[in-house]
Amino acid sequence: MVEELRCYLRPDPPALSLPPRLFTSPRLYASERARIFGRSWMMVAHRDQLASPGDYVALEIAGEPVAITRGTDGLLHGMSPICRHRMMPLVASGAGQTKDFTCPYHLWRYHLDGTLLAATHMRGNPDFDPAACRLPAFAVEEWRGFVFVNLQADAAPLAGHLAGVDGDLANYRLDDMVQVSTWTEEWRCNWKVAVENSYENYHAIGFHPNTVKPLMTGGIDMEVHTDSPLITRLLTRTGEPMEPSVLPLTEEEKQVLYSFRMFPCSSLATFGESVAWITLIPLSIDRTEVRGGTLMPAAALEGADVEAIRKQTEQFTGVINTEDRLGLEAVQRTLGSRFIERGHLSPKEPGVLAFYRNLALALAEDEAEPEGR
Ligand code: FES
Ligand SMILES: [Fe+2]
Repeated sequence: MVEELRCYLRPDPPALSLPPRLFTSPRLYASERARIFGRSWMMVAHRDQLASPGDYVALEIAGEPVAITRGTDGLLHGMSPICRHRMMPLVASGAGQTKDFTCPYHLWRYHLDGTLLAATHMRGNPDFDPAACRLPAFAVEEWRGFVFVNLQADAAPLAGHLAGVDGDLANYRLDDMVQVSTWTEEWRCNWKVAVENSYENYHAIGFHPNTVKPLMTGGIDMEVHTDSPLITRLLTRTGEPMEPSVLPLTEEEKQVLYSFRMFPCSSLATFGESVAWITLIPLSIDRTEVRGGTLMPAAALEGADVEAIRKQTEQFTGVINTEDRLGLEAVQRTLGSRFIERGHLSPKEPGVLAFYRNLALALAEDEAEPEGR
């Protein structure tokens, strides 16, 4: 199956969609868990969700429970929130505030950095060393306010890959942006069904005729810039320049909708003066968690009714997400058909081929190569 992906590595890849069984094969999903989700950077929150010591975000990445905390040391910590005693989950998926993680089973307690705080009734076991007992750590990085996690604790740093994005968005002043809304939802489809859809505007004409399509005043074409196997920049030219109220955008920048994809499943896009992030993380082979948020310049919110803006952005993203979800869940339901096969792609979707190439790079590289490059 992985062999079938190699064609996308050619300089002239065939304009064909993925072989359908790549969306349903349990073997391929196992390989994706190990070779992609076990060692890739994923954007999972904005720092506004982890502002104070004790704030945490908990989620699952391809079946692996993950917690990210703001520790009492003020730093972000990533960890596997599974009790080291007898495998009880320490926290449910979601977000909140806590002093520590207390296991509901026999009440072992862990600090926000994953080290053990106390274990009940364990003194009589000489083999148990509390100092050596801690939750396995994951790598965490914050870039321009966005919080990324990588299950590989010694992963190579992410920030160096983002120079192109930083350059394109310098005038958006991401550091001065505030997250006005954030949301999480579940789509009943394979993660690749959701991600390939996010690499093209072509579907705006079908799924989003009244929401996204009107924003594409210059048409649905995308310029694709591949910075690295991790970062793809997708630029859409607008017909009418936007008129920013607070951002110092150049004439050129006023006519571009910026959109970035970070392999495997995270993205960032500008809509006028606001910026939206979205990440599509597999929960299982046929379910995907969609996490995202909308940011606005702090200066644009001064004196404004922030609650009304929050409701408005939530409503707008909610409508677009529902349009995508209903369409992609319908695609997912066809995947068991005996009559489906690879389809021809349009010149309007070069981004999709960029995604397939990155997928091939991640899955088809030499199996013998050591992990942890
Ligand atoms: S499983 Fe957590 S304390 Fe026993
Ligand atoms: Fe869409």
